[in-house]
Amino acid sequence: MIDLRKLAEPGSIEETLLDRVDLKRLPRHVAVIMDGNGRWAKGRNLPRVEGHRAGIASVREIVETAARLELRVMTLYAFSVENWKRPRYEVATLMMLLKEYLRKELKTLMDNNIRFTAIGRVDGLDPSVQRELKYAENETAKNSGLLFQIALNYGGRAEIVDTVNRIMAVLREREMSDAQIDEQFFSDHLYTANIDDPDLLIRTSGELRVSNFLLWQIAYAEIHVTKVLWPDFRRRDLFEAIIDFQSRERRYGGVDESDAQMFIEADNQQS
Ligand code: IPE
Ligand code: IPE
Ligand code: MG
Repeated sequence: MIDLRKLAEPGSIEETLLDRVDLKRLPRHVAVIMDGNGRWAKGRNLPRVEGHRAGIASVREIVETAARLELRVMTLYAFSVENWKRPRYEVATLMMLLKEYLRKELKTLMDNNIRFTAIGRVDGLDPSVQRELKYAENETAKNSGLLFQIALNYGGRAEIVDTVNRIMAVLREREMSDAQIDEQFFSDHLYTANIDDPDLLIRTSGELRVSNFLLWQIAYAEIHVTKVLWPDFRRRDLFEAIIDFQSRERRYGGVDESDAQMFIEADNQQS
């Protein structure tokens, strides 16, 4: 049972927004492109890394909120394969902040029954980062609530290429080199094998692009873009994104029920 008292103070904006959320139709998997840390810092005449530091508070609040809403999966895009192009000091600070977050937040993850995992080319990260990730993954492995995935050294195209290579290895091993593969088999070899595709993709700070995030998995995700910069993104913004998601009509290439009915009636009249 979702404990609403843990999500909103009585009389708060959060409570008003939460009233508009249909708790029976929540997205199962929410994915977020956390963007705008640099702009947040620039607006305050601070170095970019201060934006990343401030963004941690948003991560903390959003992950905890997702767990309390009993969402199944939250995937946060924290570092792309392209982000290595950034100044060395910025990359080093991001990695340092990640390690610090994992160490400090492990207790909160445990208290909220959250299972943690990293997706991406994790073996391309510094060994000290890999160690912290493994530790958090192992400690939280038996938790049964929210799955919190962090995308690190992640690229959607890299994932597709890695998947093709994994599949080729599997086929070689099974001596099935002329086998046909289908979409299900392909999905089952992605980093996100066994995890439902995102229902809702959020991008903060207003940019209208996907920046190489979960290219395969977002085929039918609803996209919510907000101008709010990541360090300012709070629980209320997540509620707004969910309200927006719930106003959409998901058709998956089909037509909606009442339109389908009209066609059936027209067909009957013709025959
Ligand atoms: C997102 O914020 C964080 C990462 C990509 C790690 P940015 O650092 O991209 O912030 P902007 O886009 O420059 O404002
Ligand atoms: C996307 O943000 C990557 C992450 C959030 C980790 P970027 O800031 O790197 O994307 P672009 O450069 O605006 O496309
Ligand atoms: Mg950016």
